[in-house]
Amino acid sequence: MAFILDGKRISMEIKDELKEKAALLKERGIEGALAVIQVGADPASTVYVRNKKNACAYIGIESQAYELPEQTSQEELLALIERLNQEPRVRGILVQLPLPKHIDEEAVLLAISPEKDVDGFHPQSVGAMVIGKDGFLPCTPAGVIQLLKRSGIAIAGKHCVVIGRSNIVGKPMSLLMLRENATVTIAHSKTADLKALCKTADILIVAIGRPQFVTAEYVKEGAVVVDVGIHRNPDNKLCGDVKFDEVEPLASAITPVPGGVGPMTIAMLMHNCVESIEKLEG
Ligand code: GUN
Repeated sequence: MAFILDGKRISMEIKDELKEKAALLKERGIEGALAVIQVGADPASTVYVRNKKNACAYIGIESQAYELPEQTSQEELLALIERLNQEPRVRGILVQLPLPKHIDEEAVLLAISPEKDVDGFHPQSVGAMVIGKDGFLPCTPAGVIQLLKRSGIAIAGKHCVVIGRSNIVGKPMSLLMLRENATVTIAHSKTADLKALCKTADILIVAIGRPQFVTAEYVKEGAVVVDVGIHRNPDNKLCGDVKFDEVEPLASAITPVPGGVGPMTIAMLMHNCVESIEKLEG
């Protein structure tokens, strides 16, 4: 029986800490808002955005919702971001991805002021992370680190294999594990003999974006398995990138889906927002 890495419980623990911190800041007159921008009505994005707004309400920080129609032009979106960059009350700006195809995602992320970049997607934030300088860390990888640490999983010296190389998860995940002194291998769909490589991992982090891709054949006995994926299976039930029932008996610890990495992402977004509000003090 593997130990369950309980993201639901640990994210609540973090949110309760942040709620307390936000209340103390408010008592001293320090407060701010998170602006959440969604373009179009992608159903998954709508759920994520709703969860982010609910988390703000729980912590006690203001959220401002900008729900823009699918046909919004890039210029209109950039103008909104510029206005929010200038608005002192707004301490965090988040543009939900993916954006409609006619909008250049890179240009949009570049337009967000790095001091309000609570998603950690701006090239300046990414660069700061690479060289270990201060800046907002991307929420999903930072959430995985917190989940491991607060579950008592040792990272230093371990061989970590990350499957996936996206800018949002795989690449930053690898860098943050490296920062924790893991020995890191980045693998992906084109990696030769992926199964054999994954079987050498002490910590296997799966962000390949394919439902139930990782089976028992990929996992060494006693490995820690972190599943970043979230999908709906043919029965409309949520599942991850890992075949949980098959892998769980082999692993020493594993994240469930749902209730693993997902809630940690939101908790880390709230962490970044509170940090940004706190910086108002300076
Ligand atoms: N789409 C999927 N994950 C994320 C995320 O962490 N932030 C934003 N803005 N969009 C996403």
